[in-house]
Amino acid sequence: LRHVTEVSDDLQVQSLLEKARKESVSTAFDRADEMMQCGFGSAGVCCRYCLEGPCRISPNGKGPQKGVCGADIHQIVARSFLNHLTQGTSGHAEHGREVALTLLEAAEGKAPFEIKDVDKLYAVANDLGLETADKTVNEIAKEVALKALEDFQKQTGIMNWVQMRAHKDSLKKWNDLRITPVNAHLEISKAVARNAMGCDADPLNLVLGAVTMGLVDGYAGLHLSTDLQDILFGTPKAVKAKYSMAVLDEKKVNIAVHGHVPMLSEKVVEWSRKLKPEAEKVGAEGVNIVGVCCTGNELLMRQGVSVASSFSSQELVIVSGALEAMVVDIQCVMPGIQNVAECYHTEIITTLPYVKIAGATHVEFSPEIADKAAEEIVRKAIKNFKNRDPEKLSIPKETVDAYAGFSTEQILEALSKLNADDPLMPLIDAIKAGKIRGVAALVGCTNPREKQDIGNVTVAKELLKNNVLVVATGCAAHSLAKNKLMSPEGLVYCGDELREVLEAIGQAVGLPSLPPALHMGSCVDNSRPADLLTALANKLGVGIKDLPAVGSCPETHSPKALSIGTFFIAHGVDVHVGVNPQVSGSSVVTNILCGDKQEGTVTAEEVFGGKLIYETDHIVAAEKLLERINMKRAQLLGE
Ligand code: SF4
Ligand code: FE2
Repeated sequence: LRHVTEVSDDLQVQSLLEKARKESVSTAFDRADEMMQCGFGSAGVCCRYCLEGPCRISPNGKGPQKGVCGADIHQIVARSFLNHLTQGTSGHAEHGREVALTLLEAAEGKAPFEIKDVDKLYAVANDLGLETADKTVNEIAKEVALKALEDFQKQTGIMNWVQMRAHKDSLKKWNDLRITPVNAHLEISKAVARNAMGCDADPLNLVLGAVTMGLVDGYAGLHLSTDLQDILFGTPKAVKAKYSMAVLDEKKVNIAVHGHVPMLSEKVVEWSRKLKPEAEKVGAEGVNIVGVCCTGNELLMRQGVSVASSFSSQELVIVSGALEAMVVDIQCVMPGIQNVAECYHTEIITTLPYVKIAGATHVEFSPEIADKAAEEIVRKAIKNFKNRDPEKLSIPKETVDAYAGFSTEQILEALSKLNADDPLMPLIDAIKAGKIRGVAALVGCTNPREKQDIGNVTVAKELLKNNVLVVATGCAAHSLAKNKLMSPEGLVYCGDELREVLEAIGQAVGLPSLPPALHMGSCVDNSRPADLLTALANKLGVGIKDLPAVGSCPETHSPKALSIGTFFIAHGVDVHVGVNPQVSGSSVVTNILCGDKQEGTVTAEEVFGGKLIYETDHIVAAEKLLERINMKRAQLLGE
């Protein structure tokens, strides 16, 4: 096993892992050491698509070079890539669909949620071209929800959210290539069908299918979810919160909310307040909600709820011995949490009929019964407080302050203090003057095979030092926050010119400064940096591909990151991944995704203007991103 210092850069995670090992509790970090990665799978060359196989083709040319059906290495790798994208996309699309249904039920008075951001509702309705005059808020909300659901139903045309949110140049490119999605379910189903044995066998066509998945992810997943969640729960505003395992509170009943959708967790927060007297009756001072993964990000952004852990250390929240319940919804929930929970008193509570874990408690959630489910969950946690074993208790001490809540709307509002008529101008001026060299979105996960936080933080610091504005989402944001990059304390890591800009904007809104990295939310909130780029491109009269903007995903573990990354590449944004995207077996697929512009070959860079950069050395990755930023600056500004 790796020494704990090799597993995470976070001292609290290190100490909890030591505790887990002492108590003979298996966690993902140790399982990663025990499980050898399959060389064939790593290269994407293993195929299990039919019962003639499984077939695997050795990339070194030894052994048979075709599957039984005749599929060659490039066809097999392209299919596995599309398969990853389809998986990632379907998760985000389901997220969007569930939020749309919740909005519909809320508007019809069937679910106990109110429309919190009426302004955003009107803005989205207008962008969708809906008539709003003489209609009630709920009538408009219902129409917006039905428009959203059309994106899972319509059989012709293009998705409403693509029409509404995509930059016109990008959309034209996708239409020319005939890859614009019609509806999310149709495209997902088509992707599964074309990928099956005996169907699409053209690597380039399969990769284009993957780009369509990226677009479904970007619009039915990211944009649709963000828009509707903002309408239902409020558009985030700057908020101060706390990070690290130390946000667990020894004196309170602790509940971790984990997963991705905010519908249930918003209600759990509400009921944790309402049931405080019951918690006091069992000797606790109240109920403390802490976040894990993106459910954590959602609550952080809108409610300032503290965040305990990113993906890779989720089991260690339980190892603290201080957690009464971990409530999970969808995505990134390790099945391993149940085995860990059985070594402590923690109750794992699953909530969705299609995401259960053997041995866990199941409390069914649906929007109509949101209150009942949340009340039951909080009561279960309160009841479990008495089972806490003081011998097993170990809560780390220090928390880190961080600012979050930087929605696109919040960023524009802050900028409007510098220029009320034209809020984007201060940002554009700073970019043109080189005070901001470019914009980088640090996104994605942490991965138990990688040393936690180090990739996310190293890439961010290198970019900040070089005056690149950094925004962050997902678990990457968690890594940055714990390392003070979301508080003015972290300004020391910025180049002088970037720091001046952050201070000027921050002071205009009454803060000492903006933090070095702006937390834009959960993984579905990658729609927010996309919106910011669209606004900048529109203002400058160029395409998104022309902007000095990059994405970086140094520690990903999830196919969702590949679909988000592909969404950005389809706009012409260069995207770095620090973890093997499992396409190396095929020179053809690797060249399409990562190759340079080259006459006679079709590469993402040639077609869209951006490419995939796979680089495991974090410093080198940052250098490559800076190079790309400088290249785009040269083209855009003639530098
Ligand atoms: Fe083998 Fe072809 Fe079947 Fe894949 S689809 S398992 S390559 S026969
Ligand atoms: Fe996420």
